Amino acid sequence: MITYEYRIPKDINSFRRSVGWYELSERQLTAAKNNSVFAITALDGEKEVGSARVVGDGGYQFFISDVIVRPEYQGMGIGREMLNRLMNCALSVADDGETIMVNLMSAKDKEGFYEKLGFMKRPNDERGCGMTLFLTK
Ligand SMILES: CC(C)(COP(=O)(O)OP(=O)(O)OC[C@H]1O[C@@H](n2cnc3c(N)ncnc32)[C@H](O)[C@@H]1OP(=O)(O)O)[C@@H](O)C(=O)NCCC(=O)NCCS
Repeated sequence: MITYEYRIPKDINSFRRSVGWYELSERQLTAAKNNSVFAITALDGEKEVGSARVVGDGGYQFFISDVIVRPEYQGMGIGREMLNRLMNCALSVADDGETIMVNLMSAKDKEGFYEKLGFMKRPNDERGCGMTLFLTK
């Protein structure tokens, strides 16, 4: 049975490696651990099999980041469950009548996964596209 704990995984980089992403530096890992607004880890027994986190201002703006399910556990509904739980966390801080904004940057070809959760693709008739700038020091 898959269980969920509201915390950052013990080894973020092992998750990132499992899906072919570059690793974060110690400084970046510390910042991720200390400054995420919400985080979730999916477990199969003691084994950490999925992770996702939310950064933002904790009031209006929330940004979903580092959504990863280990390859051997993909397609089992873990990603959907993690995101639904994180979005409930984000909505739980709002007062009645308030709207919050939840953003993300989809990895290539993962848009369909997020669309099933209610996210809209941009640009569209009403909104411009999301934009990214990678800066290297
Ligand atoms: C993308 C990812 C998080 C999805 O997690 P998952 O646990 O495999 O997905 P789920 O089993 O919860 O899928 C939920 C639904 O989305 C669908 N789905 C999953 N991946 C999809 C994709 N790439 N495109 C379209 N639909 C997708 C599933 O078929 C399922 O549909 P259903 O509700 O009709 O059954 C996972 O595949 C992953 O970690 N990929 C590698 C890392 C990555 O790219 N992360 C995203 C960063 S933006």
